[in-house]
Order: sequence, then C-alpha cells, then structure tokens
Amino acid sequence: MDTNKIKELNEHFRSASAQDIIAHFIAEFGDKIALSSSLGAEDQVLTEMVVSINPNTKIFTLDTGRLFPETYELIHRTSKKYKKNLQVFFPNAEKVQNMVNTKGISLYYDSIENRKECCFVRKIEPLQRAFKGLEAWICGLRADQSVTRQELEVVEWDANNNLLKINPLAFWSEQQVWDYIIEKGIPYNPLHDKNYPSIGCQPCTRAIMEGEDVRAGRWYWENPDTKECGLHKR
Ligand code: ADX
Ligand code: SF4
Repeated sequence: MDTNKIKELNEHFRSASAQDIIAHFIAEFGDKIALSSSLGAEDQVLTEMVVSINPNTKIFTLDTGRLFPETYELIHRTSKKYKKNLQVFFPNAEKVQNMVNTKGISLYYDSIENRKECCFVRKIEPLQRAFKGLEAWICGLRADQSVTRQELEVVEWDANNNLLKINPLAFWSEQQVWDYIIEKGIPYNPLHDKNYPSIGCQPCTRAIMEGEDVRAGRWYWENPDTKECGLHKR
C-alpha cells in the first residue's frame, strides 16, 4: 500500500476508538486479517474486542517453548472464556535442536547475536508461517511502551512481511488498558500483579523496579535501543 494511502488512513483513524478501527479492518480483510497475541495485557484487551466484533477472526500466538507457566495457563483460560482455541504456532523442532546443541540451552545471555538468533528460530520463523494467507495483522503495540516505539502509528505498512499492520491501541496509556481489563473482567496474566508489565519468554523477562520503564524487564541485560526481537522491525 502506498504511503499516501497509509497517511490518509492514519489521519482518519487518529481519534477513532479501538473498536471502530478493528471493525473497519475486519470488515475490509475478513479471513485475511488476524490478531497476533502474546497474551499480554494489551492483547487481552484486543482479544475481547475482536471476539465481540467477529468471533471467527483468527487469533494466533507464538509458543516459543520458553514461556512462563502462567502464560500457558492463560492461553487455556482465554480459550475457554471466548470459546475459541487460539491458534498456536511452534518453532521448527530441528532448528531449535541444532541451535541449542551448537550454542547451548541459554545461548541468549552470551551475545546480542545469539539472542537474535534464538528470537528468529523461536518467533520470527513461526510468525512467517502464521502469516500465510494473511494481508493484515493486528498487534498490541503502544507508542509509550519504549523508545523504539515512540513513532508508532495506528496503521503501518509492514514492509518486512508485505502486510498491513494495525495497532488499535497505539495511543492508549497503560492506565487505559487496565481500566478496560477491570471493567470488562478480562482474564490476564497474574505476573502483571507481580511487577511484570511486559511479559515475553521466561529466561528473558524479569520484574521491573519502581520507576523503571515498562519494558525494562525484557532482555534486561541489553541496551534499550536494541530491545526488539525482530517481530516489530520498523
Ligand atoms: S516483543 O517484540 O517485545 O516480543 P511485545 O511483547 O511488546 O513484543 O508485544 C508487542 C506485540 O507483538 C503484542 O501485542 C503482539 O501483538 C505481538 N507479539 C509479541 N509476542 C508475541 C507472541 N509470542 N505471539 C504472538 N504475538 C506476539
Ligand atoms: Fe529466545 Fe529469549 Fe527470544 Fe524467547 S525472548 S525467543 S528465549 S532469546
């Protein structure tokens, strides 16, 4: 899609509600759009909205094999509540096996290069399979999550994957997310109550301390500017 069209869409949707944004793109793309959920607080808000707009819309999650037990339990609770199995994409077993046997089970702590390789094998390659047949994807990114996301827009052209990327919560605050979760009784990860605002894989996520950025606990040993796993290259 050309940049003028994206600009136009962003002007149009800048002050629209998240529900209106989602409804518009589900109507436009039908079964060629999906919600990509990590089961984080933002994604749980989006799941509730997507299911209430069209329960047949595909929702998928990438199971890296290294998620927290609480996240697996939340996949179960969410599927039961919304009467819909989340589509789970797994990494290629042989690729994981080769990587781990060559570089070690906890390779990500040794270098940024190793960490990116692990994210590629466990998330990016499965994500590329999840994208099969899609023309657009919905994500739970918010602009105020980190320095790497400050320029975020509601509609972006994802040139890496040739897909339209929709961020309905781009301008939401963390408070808005939590007000919505409480108001609607949406299931959420109990780790959020233990100072884990952003949850990824278990070995690469820690609780944050008071005053820290919400993503400070992700790849906590790395510099803030490198802390993207490649899912959201922009
Ligand atoms: S990450 O790139 O650092 O892992 P983050 O956890 O902030 O991303 O999540 C941002 C958005 O990326 C989520 O709202 C979701 O749309 C997508 N996402 C992240 N992790 C996953 C996952 N494991 N499965 C599916 N989607 C994911
Ligand atoms: Fe591997 Fe950590 Fe990336 Fe998960 S977040 S895929 S464990 S490097």
